[in-house]
Amino acid sequence: MKRRTFLAASAGAVTSALTGALGLPARAQPDRSLRDLAEARGLVFGAAAATYMLDQPDFVPVLRRQVRQLVPEYEMKRQFLEPRRGRYDFAALDRLFAFAAASRMSMRGHPLVWYASNPDWLEPALTARRDETLLTGHIQAVLGRYRGRMASVDVVNEAIAPDGRGLRPSPWLSAFGPGYLDTAFHAARAADPAVKLVYNDWGCEQGGPENDRFRATTLKLLDGLLARRVPVDALGLQGHLNAFQNRVDQRKLRLFLDEVRARGLAILITELDVYDGDGPADIAARDRAVADETRRFLDVALDNPATRAVLTWCLSDRHIDPPEEWRLKLTGFRHRKLPYDAQMRKKPMWDAIAQAFAGRRVP
Ligand code: XIL
Repeated sequence: MKRRTFLAASAGAVTSALTGALGLPARAQPDRSLRDLAEARGLVFGAAAATYMLDQPDFVPVLRRQVRQLVPEYEMKRQFLEPRRGRYDFAALDRLFAFAAASRMSMRGHPLVWYASNPDWLEPALTARRDETLLTGHIQAVLGRYRGRMASVDVVNEAIAPDGRGLRPSPWLSAFGPGYLDTAFHAARAADPAVKLVYNDWGCEQGGPENDRFRATTLKLLDGLLARRVPVDALGLQGHLNAFQNRVDQRKLRLFLDEVRARGLAILITELDVYDGDGPADIAARDRAVADETRRFLDVALDNPATRAVLTWCLSDRHIDPPEEWRLKLTGFRHRKLPYDAQMRKKPMWDAIAQAFAGRRVP
């Protein structure tokens, strides 16, 4: 190794050690990305992305530098994949997979079975005939095409009722009863023996009575799958948080994640974002509150050795759903839920994620 290279490498190592030891913000390590900081702690950091974002020249380099795993925001939803029965259009999803492969990223799939984002023809077809291939055929079509190329996949998304009382009414529940979850997971395992099979949902992060019910129902759902030897590998915790209302209950979340780990399941944070629409107009105050809630959540989640990955639901405020226009007119502000702002500048949430990673004990 040339002397200059050696000195540079040593200086880098010293800097990293010093900032780590001194607990300096990760921003003090300008060369470290969320991807690097996560990997150093045995974690994967990722984000949802959509193909339209790949045409934005100021966005793509940041995505490549910061993200180790992608999840399609839209492109794997059935309304976009199979607009007409049996007529699949994989072009957009193929593009995301190709981009990920060219960018040294892995992919996670989302979702296979969901009550929402289904094509218009599906529910009438299910009502006309309870044909199980409408469920299993879709799983085989998608996982068959990307066999061996997904690290994990949300086999069933949001099956629990929003009030936490039992299963959410859905075309799947109506057609096949609660067993549709078992059927879906078995079909997914048969279609791809390697991909980690995930049950994905929200509602377990905060402390209200409905969240208590949601956590209890989630554990009951997982216990049922495990008792029936249904192949499930992980719980996906979406992580849609609120910076100003109904905040994360760290004690209840910690106990819940301990229960998930005790069942031998991995934990993935799959859709992290922090809603700031209930906050003041002052941007700095909102950004601080978003960062604080991010840290409160991740400190608990990452303290559990079963947690393997953290993905945000998009990376930049530029790409979140357009805010309600009335609110925009009233307050003039757009939501700031993510690590980068609309101009691709790092926000305090980026630091909060970086520091949570740096603070994670390597399992
Ligand atoms: C959302 C997308 O972000 C929206 O743009 C789309 O219109 C609907 O789906 N939980 C999920 C995600 O599992 O798939 C949802 O994504 C957000 C809530």
